[in-house]
Amino acid sequence: MDEKIEEDMKITVSLIKADVGGYPGHASVHPSLIEIAKKELEKAKKSQLLIDFHVLAAGDDLELLMSHTRGCDNSEVHELAWNTFVAATEVAKELKLYGAGQDLLSDAFSGNIKGMGPGSAEMEFTERKAEPLLAFMMDKTEPGAFNLPVYKMFASPENTAGLVIDPSCHNGFRFEVWDIMEHKRVFMNAPEEIYSMLALIGAKSRYVIKRVYPKEGGKLPADEPAAAVSTEKLYQIAGEYVGKDDPVALVRGQSGLPAVGEILEAFSFPHLVSGWMRGSHNGPLMPVSFKDARCTRFDGPPRVIAAGFQLSNGRLIGPVDLFDDPAFDCTRRKAQEIAEYMRRHGAFEPHRLPLEDMEYTTLPKVMDKLKGRFEDIA
Ligand code: F6R
Ligand code: MG
Ligand code: MG
Repeated sequence: MDEKIEEDMKITVSLIKADVGGYPGHASVHPSLIEIAKKELEKAKKSQLLIDFHVLAAGDDLELLMSHTRGCDNSEVHELAWNTFVAATEVAKELKLYGAGQDLLSDAFSGNIKGMGPGSAEMEFTERKAEPLLAFMMDKTEPGAFNLPVYKMFASPENTAGLVIDPSCHNGFRFEVWDIMEHKRVFMNAPEEIYSMLALIGAKSRYVIKRVYPKEGGKLPADEPAAAVSTEKLYQIAGEYVGKDDPVALVRGQSGLPAVGEILEAFSFPHLVSGWMRGSHNGPLMPVSFKDARCTRFDGPPRVIAAGFQLSNGRLIGPVDLFDDPAFDCTRRKAQEIAEYMRRHGAFEPHRLPLEDMEYTTLPKVMDKLKGRFEDIA
């Protein structure tokens, strides 16, 4: 799109992902899926549905990053993403890739991609004079894996120096937290309510940070998010375990928001997340470069990539492969040590998830076989 976006025009960024086939197994995305996705999105850019796009891959997940002016939950943009995944599924079937079409839980598109299998993070906001935007994509984990890093970025003075020393960040931020079991949400202010907020988001398999907003009275509009996280729970949609909820997030930075380096610093600690091997194990989240975003050891360990952009009238200038940096080597080393330590537990908790979190995996079927063997203890 060449024409200039009007001043104060709102841009929407949509990051929509799905696993439509892995190679080999659940390790990575075949290049021909990336190619077909680029072709489909290029057509949409020519027809001016999209301003710009990038296709990325994290583990076995195909990631569509799109900018446009249609707002969040736009049916045409969602249909485009759906049709792109369907086209990629066709290629995946032809190549007999593993789990072709795995995350497409419906036969036909019905207005909004939510609840149909793919995950999405979207934000609509007024593009600033300079607008840094970071896209995070994780594989072999769950939406709650973003709780700790997003909390650190926007609420922890240990992580984000700006909360302490920049007057434009000093008032803190407003968090939108979702209870993904009960389908309810609560808005909470940081720093005033961080103890209560931590009571929720520390339980990351149930309470997830959905969005973060600037507060009223600051230099940024309080109704335009600074961060958004995908919160789809595939097993809840499908009723049984069909794969991972591998989440994505978008984060805006600088000038009244955490600096790019503060946002990235939140990933310097490889915290334990669930979703490793068969969606059933805890393991460290390892920040890696695009080229290392292949899940190998024990189908993991869980990984995160970061793609950095400047927006220019909706154009996505980038990406910069932000974890392709020796500054994250020590995090990766630590993650490797933790991975080794956790693996040595074998089938035992807390490497394996607690039983209640295994409810939607294949374990209950194994347990069923033992049912008749239990006798009362006198
Ligand atoms: C998939 C994943 C993998 C699989 C595992 C078994 O995202 O995390 O660890 O769960 O490879 O896969 P199936 O059951 O397809 O053989
Ligand atoms: Mg897969
Ligand atoms: Mg995946």
